[in-house]
Amino acid sequence: MTISIASDHAGFEFKRLILAYLSEKDIEYIDYGTTNNDSVDYPDYAIKVAESVSREEIDRGILICGTGIGMSIVANKFHGVRAALCHDAETAEASRQHNDANILVLGGRVLDEQVALSIVEIWLKTEFSGGRHQKRLEKIKELETLAGE
Ligand code: RB5
Repeated sequence: MTISIASDHAGFEFKRLILAYLSEKDIEYIDYGTTNNDSVDYPDYAIKVAESVSREEIDRGILICGTGIGMSIVANKFHGVRAALCHDAETAEASRQHNDANILVLGGRVLDEQVALSIVEIWLKTEFSGGRHQKRLEKIKELETLAGE
């Protein structure tokens, strides 16, 4: 599995932690920035990860901003993207099992570091459950088709 990852300045420290975790676990990633704590605009970074997932160039993405809200808003405008803002193990697991979320969004200013890492761990290992959830995803796909007309 390859992950694309990006943050703004408010998520930068969390991104460093997550990159260290991915390296430790031998999980490949592409880091789209940002590269330091200087103030940047979150849409510029959300776009890079969301495009890579939407074009199916990358399996899954991770985005981090201050609250996770801005990154979620931007990422979910992309075709095929199901970005989930998660704040604990339960939402992380459900976002994979029920929603087949392909982008995990975290809030760097609202989460404890260890909680954030446990969210990443659970999110990466949990599979989509399919079944009744699949038909709901089909409805989302239909909406995307209608919105594209
Ligand atoms: C940056 O100050 C902050 O607005 C951003 O990181 C994010 O929380 C937006 O939703």
